[in-house]
Amino acid sequence: MAIRFIEDKKIFRLDAGNSTYVMQVRENGYLQHLYYGASVRDDDLEYIITYLMCPFHPKAYDSWNNKAFSTDIQPMEYPVNGTGDFRTSAFSVNSVCGSNATELKYDSYRIIDGKPALEGLPATYLNEDDKAQTLEITMVDQFSGVKVKLYYTAFESLNVITRHCVVENCGNESVFINRVMSMCLDFNRVEDYDIIHLWGKWAKERQLERVRAPHGITNISSKRGSSSHYHNPFIALCDHEATEDSGNVYGVNLVYSGNFAAEVEVQAEESMRLIMGINPVDFSWKLEAGESFTSPEAVMVYSANGIGEMSRTFHKLYNRNLCRGYWKDNKRPILINNWEATYFDFDDDKLEKIAKGASELGIEMLVMDDGWFTNRLGEFGGLGDWEVDTTKLKEGLSGLCKRINALGMKFGIWFEPEMVASNTKLYAEHPDWVLHVGDRTRNLDRNQMVLDLSRKEVQDYLFGRISDILDHANISYIKWDFNRNLTEAGSAILPRDRQLEVFHRYVLGLYALLERLHNAYPMLLLEGCSGGGGRFDPAMLYYSPQIWTSDNTDALDRCKIQYGSSLCYPASMTSAHVSASPCHQTHRASSFETRGNVAMAGSFGYELDLNLLCDEEKALVKKQVQQYHDFYNCIHYGDYYRLVSPFDNEYCAWNFVSENKDEAILIFVVMRDRIFPRYFVKLKGLDPAKKYRDVNSGKEYYGDTLMNCGLNLTKVYGDLGSVIVHLKEVK
Ligand code: DGJ
Repeated sequence: MAIRFIEDKKIFRLDAGNSTYVMQVRENGYLQHLYYGASVRDDDLEYIITYLMCPFHPKAYDSWNNKAFSTDIQPMEYPVNGTGDFRTSAFSVNSVCGSNATELKYDSYRIIDGKPALEGLPATYLNEDDKAQTLEITMVDQFSGVKVKLYYTAFESLNVITRHCVVENCGNESVFINRVMSMCLDFNRVEDYDIIHLWGKWAKERQLERVRAPHGITNISSKRGSSSHYHNPFIALCDHEATEDSGNVYGVNLVYSGNFAAEVEVQAEESMRLIMGINPVDFSWKLEAGESFTSPEAVMVYSANGIGEMSRTFHKLYNRNLCRGYWKDNKRPILINNWEATYFDFDDDKLEKIAKGASELGIEMLVMDDGWFTNRLGEFGGLGDWEVDTTKLKEGLSGLCKRINALGMKFGIWFEPEMVASNTKLYAEHPDWVLHVGDRTRNLDRNQMVLDLSRKEVQDYLFGRISDILDHANISYIKWDFNRNLTEAGSAILPRDRQLEVFHRYVLGLYALLERLHNAYPMLLLEGCSGGGGRFDPAMLYYSPQIWTSDNTDALDRCKIQYGSSLCYPASMTSAHVSASPCHQTHRASSFETRGNVAMAGSFGYELDLNLLCDEEKALVKKQVQQYHDFYNCIHYGDYYRLVSPFDNEYCAWNFVSENKDEAILIFVVMRDRIFPRYFVKLKGLDPAKKYRDVNSGKEYYGDTLMNCGLNLTKVYGDLGSVIVHLKEVK
């Protein structure tokens, strides 16, 4: 049994994989957190609680047995605001009297077999052969009549607990939720913890940063309307000494694409709190009597064996229990995208030529990027009407599709559905369909405005336009772009006291639209994108099995971007293309081989005109295409091991190992050469007793040799020199 209630002690115990999670209902009705970490046998962990008689920590009103129970010191399960716990809170409701003071006491519980879906929100799901149980704990705020149902799903065979909550207004008056975090984790902080998070910006997404958790509040968040280039909805806490292979690590990832916040608060009395959920800044939700509100899902992964194991658990979960539909298990076509080959300057003949050259080298799909619709000669205009520019595509979309299909290739197309430009029919007819605030100037970032996706008629319009295009041409793929953030986030149809709901309603509207498309076009392959990786989160993975990782395709920068992304996202999700050299974003030159070797560690493709390559490079394309096919299973579904970090070294390495350990792929890149370097790279995750053959050199090694002595890669030299080593079990 994954979940148990120990009646006499009022203790809830969850076992997920090799982890245990324990909480207790106290005599005063508070729900107290007792433990989360490696599996333990005992249930009664109340003894770990210390009662401190500290001044300036309000005692709970009904303290008992002379125990100085203060919610301001004790590890709490779902802390609230304004009634004694001054730390950052998980929940706060503004009730009838206008105060934010909230108090939640235990009411009841249920244990459910399986995992319920979240209303209107993407979430992890169970496959037929997965076992999991869900605990529902109901907490009540007597004063307002608000109930909060806390949900915990414990996966039996993975160290994963997912959490979310549902707020129900059981009172007679409307209330305003102004804080509803999806999870909270309190620690009795006797150890020293580090925070790991992913920061970035456009073309430099998901840079890994690790800092010692400082006193005060560390806030990792977005209020841009999307999960953003700047911070990712991922955070991990780990022992200060934790490495890739050792130490306690707690990783949390929010399945959400909008404004989020993760906060870590360290307080003087050895307490540390982590909360994560919808960003409370610019958020308020009016809940009428009888209504309910569902928070997004937070995925918690515990690893007793370092950061690497945490990542592999996330990867497994996302590949098996988040990614859906046809493209979850079927091999995705290797694609060529025309963006960096032509930008806006293309027509059907040019595209056909690019496709023809590519198909001769084994590429399976042409993706036509931005610029195929009317009024779109550059980064201004056109977005919203989605009418084909027949000066560029003379026989329309279906004509071009047929020409590409005749080459034996699939055809994909770029869209940016959430946006509208001012020179469109759509904007002329519906100026109120964009997010705006009264007569305030409407910000025209990238010459476009954001459609109000919270409105059903806007969703219907977009579904209609997209399906009209999909129904009239043989389109296999959509690159779904999103190139600006939300400003003046107001909606014309919401009353004043609901305007702070717009950010969340927008995200719900986006999910509703994506779900509708997913159901109507089950074979359509969707690739998420937001100026590269500006909306790279698990919620988008639910709809789009792969996401464009970054607009920066420079091999050196990509080592860091992809390495950072790997903290919680699998390679299958991480789109990586070979583009021209020098790189258009950084102007740095690198060899064709290294660009391919780096891109191979993701969802592989090309982004240049292959016709312009010399014969030697064309031969390399053929080799890379072959590698893509040969490596597909190991890279997409195998175990991923980070070996040498590009953030701490001048070279970097990672390896993939197939599920049954009969194959491994090592990727090694010298970022900056040194004088007389010596490179030994020790692989991880192999079977020590198996013998592996280096497919290239024919040399054979036992797994333990490869993992302990390592491979001598000293022959790889020069800035941005690289190699892929393919190892296969000798049977
Ligand atoms: C931003 C994307 O990240 C690029 O790949 C490209 O699709 C452009 N938008 C097109 O405008």
